[in-house]
Amino acid sequence: MKIVIFLGAPGSGKGTVADRVEERLGYTHVSTGNMLREAVKAGTAVGEAAKSYMERGELVPDEVMIKVIEARMDAGGADAAFMFDGYPRTVEQAELLEKSLEGRGGTLEKVVFLDAPRDVLIRRLTGRRTCRDCGACFHVETMPPKKEGVCDDCGGELYQRPDDQEETIANRLDVYNSQTESLVSRYEEQGVLVRVDSDRPVAPLVEDVAALFESDADASDGQ
Ligand code: AP5
Repeated sequence: MKIVIFLGAPGSGKGTVADRVEERLGYTHVSTGNMLREAVKAGTAVGEAAKSYMERGELVPDEVMIKVIEARMDAGGADAAFMFDGYPRTVEQAELLEKSLEGRGGTLEKVVFLDAPRDVLIRRLTGRRTCRDCGACFHVETMPPKKEGVCDDCGGELYQRPDDQEETIANRLDVYNSQTESLVSRYEEQGVLVRVDSDRPVAPLVEDVAALFESDADASDGQ
C-alpha cells in the first residue's frame, strides 16, 4: 500500500489538486470531508456522529475518523495507492496512520503541503460552490461553472457548504492552526514533506505537483 498525504489549511486547494492529478499519477483520491458529507446525507451512524462537529467547523473525534480511514484502507486491498486529502489532522491520527501502515507493510511516500495566506483561504472558501450530487467544486470568481448554479460535470445543483459561512470559516482556520499545523514540522522532520506555494492559478499549480511525482518516477527508472 502506498500513501500520499495532501496537507494544508481549509481552502488551500487539497481537493482541487488531488482531483486533477489522481488518475494521471495512478492514485485514488480519498477525501475524508467528502466521505463524511456522504455519510451525513445518507444518515449513517458515522454521519450522525460527525454532523454537529462539521457544522461548527470542529474536528470529528479521532475515534470516529480512525474507523472511517481504516475501513477505507481495508477496502482498497494491499496494492492500493491512496491520496489522502484531509487525513490526518491531529497528532493522534498521524500516529495511528503510521502504526496502521506498519501493520499493512505500507509506506508513506510523500506529504504535499499546500501553503497559502489566510486572506486567500477566506476568499476561496466564501466563494466556493459545491455540487450536491457529485461533490465537484467551483468558485464564483476563479472557477465559475459554465451555467450559474449548475455543475459542469453532472448537471447537479451547486450550493454553499454550511461550513463555508464566514463565522464557521474563521473557526475552521483556528482549529487548523491549533490542531493540524504541527503536522507540518512532524513530516518535515521525517523528510517526507514537500512545501508547495498554492497561492497561484490552478493549472500551473497542478503541473508543479504532478512534476514532483513524475521526477521521482524518472529517477527510479534511471537506476
Ligand atoms: P474537508 O471537506 O476536508 O474541509 P477542509 O479541510 O476544511 O478543506 P476544504 O475542502 O475546505 O478545502 P480544500 O483544501 O480541499 O480546498 P478546495 O480544493 O476545495 O472537511 C470538512 C469537515 O469534515 C472538517 O471541518 C471536519 O469537521 C471534518 N473532517 C474531515 N476530515 C477530518 C479528520 N481527518 N479529522 C476530523 N474531522 C475531519 O478549494 C477551495 C476553493 O478554492 C474552491 O472553490 C476552489 O475552486 C478554489 N481554489 C482551489 N485552488 C485554487 C487556486 N489555486 N486558485 C484559485 N482558486 C482555487
